[in-house]
Amino acid sequence: MKNNFEADIAIIGGTGLYQLDDFEELERRKLVTRWGDPSSELILSRYKNKTLIFLARHGLQHNIPPHKVNYRANLWALKECGVKQVIGVAAVGGITEKMSPETIVIPDQIIDYTYSRKHTYFEDELDQVTHIDFTEPYTEDLRSRLLLASDNAIDGGTYAATQGPRLETAAEINKLRIDGSDIVGMTGMPEASLAREIELEYACCALSVNWAAGCAGTKKIDHKEMLEIVDKGMLKIHSILKNILK
Ligand code: HPA
Repeated sequence: MKNNFEADIAIIGGTGLYQLDDFEELERRKLVTRWGDPSSELILSRYKNKTLIFLARHGLQHNIPPHKVNYRANLWALKECGVKQVIGVAAVGGITEKMSPETIVIPDQIIDYTYSRKHTYFEDELDQVTHIDFTEPYTEDLRSRLLLASDNAIDGGTYAATQGPRLETAAEINKLRIDGSDIVGMTGMPEASLAREIELEYACCALSVNWAAGCAGTKKIDHKEMLEIVDKGMLKIHSILKNILK
């Protein structure tokens, strides 16, 4: 796409992040890709002379569940707008001790427990089979920028991507912990691997919004409490996003 709807950096907003406070909205654009429709219009936004593109992962009305998100269309649309770096913002559950609610984590590893999602661009009309390297699933340079832009985000942790939309059982979370997971969310994959497939730099900025099932003595996950923490935490996320543009 060669026009002025372009930016180097994009934010994919998750639960609780549907718009960027303090950013000026320049233009909205509905794109259609060869992989279908992105979750929402793309919003070209500006903060202090720096532009970025914002995309609401679950739609602007939050009506697309994690397993129905068209991850392929979302990343493709961003690539078509010249985007080089993508920050996926995500609300997650905390599993290990340091991941208490309200903590911000910049994970460095992923375990993928999702299934039946359209998870690759490399399946039809191929000249050749492609296997991307995914040893380090996040782009280190972008992770470092996020850490520099935040006051006290935790550096590293393993993100377990579950299928949803239901939350997990306590036994499932125990298994994830034994596997080495620190946080759990439903949208981390295939977003990260699709980004790698089309050579977009990608990092995740995760906000712990609850103790995962059975952790820290949790008997039941209260959705209302979760949303309160989402609201509080998104203030911190906004400040990170503004800092990273500096
Ligand atoms: N599990 C999975 N996804 C989540 C959670 C959780 O506990 N909290 C926020 N997203």
